[in-house]
Amino acid sequence: MKQELYFSNEVASTIEEVVAQINPSKIFVLVDTNTAYFVLPQLQQTSQIIANAKVITIPAGDLNKNLESLSLVWRELTLESASRSSLLINVGGGVVCDLGGFAAATYKRGIHCVNIPTTLLAAVDAAVGGKTAVNFQGLKNQIGVFREPDAVIISSIFFKTLNQHEILSGYAEMIKHALLKSEKEFARVMKFSPIDSLNNNDEYLEMLRDNVAIKADVVKKDPTEKGLRKALNLGHTAGHALEELSLERKNPIAHGYAVAWGLVIDAVLSSMLFNFSSDTLHTLANFVKENYGAYDISCKDYPHLIELMRQDKKNPDADHITFSLLKAPGKLELDAVATSEQISAALDIFCDLMGI
Ligand SMILES: NC(=O)c1ccc[n+]([C@@H]2O[C@H](COP(=O)([O-])OP(=O)(O)OC[C@H]3O[C@@H](n4cnc5c(N)ncnc54)[C@H](O)[C@@H]3O)[C@@H](O)[C@H]2O)c1
Ligand SMILES: [Zn+2]
Repeated sequence: MKQELYFSNEVASTIEEVVAQINPSKIFVLVDTNTAYFVLPQLQQTSQIIANAKVITIPAGDLNKNLESLSLVWRELTLESASRSSLLINVGGGVVCDLGGFAAATYKRGIHCVNIPTTLLAAVDAAVGGKTAVNFQGLKNQIGVFREPDAVIISSIFFKTLNQHEILSGYAEMIKHALLKSEKEFARVMKFSPIDSLNNNDEYLEMLRDNVAIKADVVKKDPTEKGLRKALNLGHTAGHALEELSLERKNPIAHGYAVAWGLVIDAVLSSMLFNFSSDTLHTLANFVKENYGAYDISCKDYPHLIELMRQDKKNPDADHITFSLLKAPGKLELDAVATSEQISAALDIFCDLMGI
C-alpha cells in the first residue's frame, strides 16, 4: 500500500478506517516515555484499537534513537509472536517515527506500519516521506532504509502539550516548505505565528494540511533523493553547520532553530546569486529574528562554518559547496555552487539582518 495521508481531529475513527484497510493479525503501539504520558492515555480512552494493542515503550530523546531501543522493539515483537501481517503504530515525534519505521521495515523483512506524529516537526517532516533510521556510533541517521508507512494520521490535537521550543522547531520546516512552493504559500506561513499551532483554528489547520502536502509531493516525485528531493535541503547546509558549531560550543541549538537561521542565510545567497527578491528576504529575516532570536556568530567563525559546510555529506567533492537555493519562492536552483568568498559575504549580511 502506498503512503496515505489523513488529516483528522477525529483520530479514533481514522485509526479504525486505516486498520480496517490493513486488516492486521496483531497490533502494536510504539510510544516513548513522554508520549506514553501525554498522548497514549487519551488515545486509549477514545480508540478501542489502541486500548487493545500491545504497547512498546522506548526512552524519549534523540540519544535513545539507537540500537538498544531498536532491539527492545524487535525483542517485544518477537516475544509477542508478531507476524508479517502485524501492524506497528508509531505514536510520537520524529524519534519514535524514525526508529519505529526502521523496526517495522526490518522485522521479518517488513511488517505494516502507521505513523501518528505527535510533534509539529514529525507531522510536517519526519513522519512523511519514508526515511527511517537510527543513530549509530555518534552519527545521526547512520543506519536506515527508505520505506513509506502504510498511512500517516496527522492531527493537531496532540500539539497542546508541546513546549514553545518544539513548536518553533517544527514551524521552521513549514517555512521551508512554503518557500519551496510559492509566493502565496510563503505569505500564508508568515501570516501566522508559530504559536497558532496550539489552537485548533480552521484556517491554520488548512495551512498545515497544504504544507504537509508540499513535502509529500516532492517525495512522491523523488522518493530516494536522486534529484528533486534535494529541494528539501533548503536552509540545511548552513543550518547543519550552525548546529555543529553549537555542539562544539557545548550549547546545542534545536535543529529547527538552525534551519530557520539557515533559511535566512540561503535566502541571502539566493539574492546574491539568483536575484531572489530583497523584500521577501527581509520579510523572512524579520520573522526569524522576531520568533527565533539571533544566533551569535562573528566573522571569526566564518572560516570554520564554511569548513563545516564543505564537509556536508551532500557535496559531490571537497572543492564544491552546494546549496539548494531559490530564484524566487517556488523557483528552485537545486545544485547551486557558492564560493567561500560568497558564503562569507552572505554571513556578513545575515549578521546585519539579525542585528548581531
Ligand atoms: N525521517 C525524516 O525525514 C526526518 C525528518 C526530520 C527529522 N527527523 C528526525 O526526527 C527527530 C526529531 O523529531 P522531534 O523533534 O519530533 O523529536 P522527538 O521525537 O524527540 O520529540 C521531541 C520531544 O517531544 C516529546 N513529545 C512528543 N510528542 C509530544 C507531545 N504531544 N506532547 C509532549 N511531548 C511530546 C518527545 O518525547 C521528545 O521529548 C530527529 O531524530 C530527526 O533526526 C527525521
Ligand atoms: Zn530539517
